Amino acid sequence: MLKQTDIQRTLSAFKPENFVFVVSIDQNNKPSGMVVAWKTRISGTPPLYALALGKSSNTYKLIKKSKEFVIAVPNKDLKAAIEIFGYHHGTEIDKFKESKLKTIPSKYLRTPLIKEATICYECKLVKTINTGSCNLVIGEVVAAHHNKNKKILLVTGKNKNGERIFKEF
Ligand SMILES: Cc1cc2nc3c(=O)[nH]c(=O)nc-3n(C[C@H](O)[C@H](O)[C@H](O)COP(=O)(O)O)c2cc1C
Repeated sequence: MLKQTDIQRTLSAFKPENFVFVVSIDQNNKPSGMVVAWKTRISGTPPLYALALGKSSNTYKLIKKSKEFVIAVPNKDLKAAIEIFGYHHGTEIDKFKESKLKTIPSKYLRTPLIKEATICYECKLVKTINTGSCNLVIGEVVAAHHNKNKKILLVTGKNKNGERIFKEF
């Protein structure tokens, strides 16, 4: 039977959850990025993606200035990098150096792709919208890259210690 319950906890209970790495660049073309679960397609034609980025996120500031970003869909090869991209600010560490993830040039952007990713979307910033604790970042996908030999990593839930449980499909 459905029971009314805590809103925040119940929003987090909606699993499995997929997430992406979002990369952008600074004024010297140096890449950094973050992990993002709050993202969705919002138009097929033109192909638009929306990301909800926390107000303190360094990646948001990079996107606002560079007007571009890459969405990288992870597989198990990016699992170790979640800790670095998802829990540290790009102002404090060089996330690519720390994680040892490799970059390769994109087709239309200065922002590179993550070489190890399963899918990468090159996005040009369309607009940002202030939405409470986040800024909504809307980008148009101008190129897509897919390594069909790789799978996609999902979060299926949490274990008793509150750690995420991952599964590739
Ligand atoms: C699985 C996972 C999902 C996340 N989803 C989001 C999200 O949707 N939006 C967000 O702002 N931060 C999200 N985060 C947190 C950011 O990745 C984190 O704050 C990051 O350190 C920001 O880095 P930056 O300041 O260098 O941009 C998520 C973290 C993890 C581990």
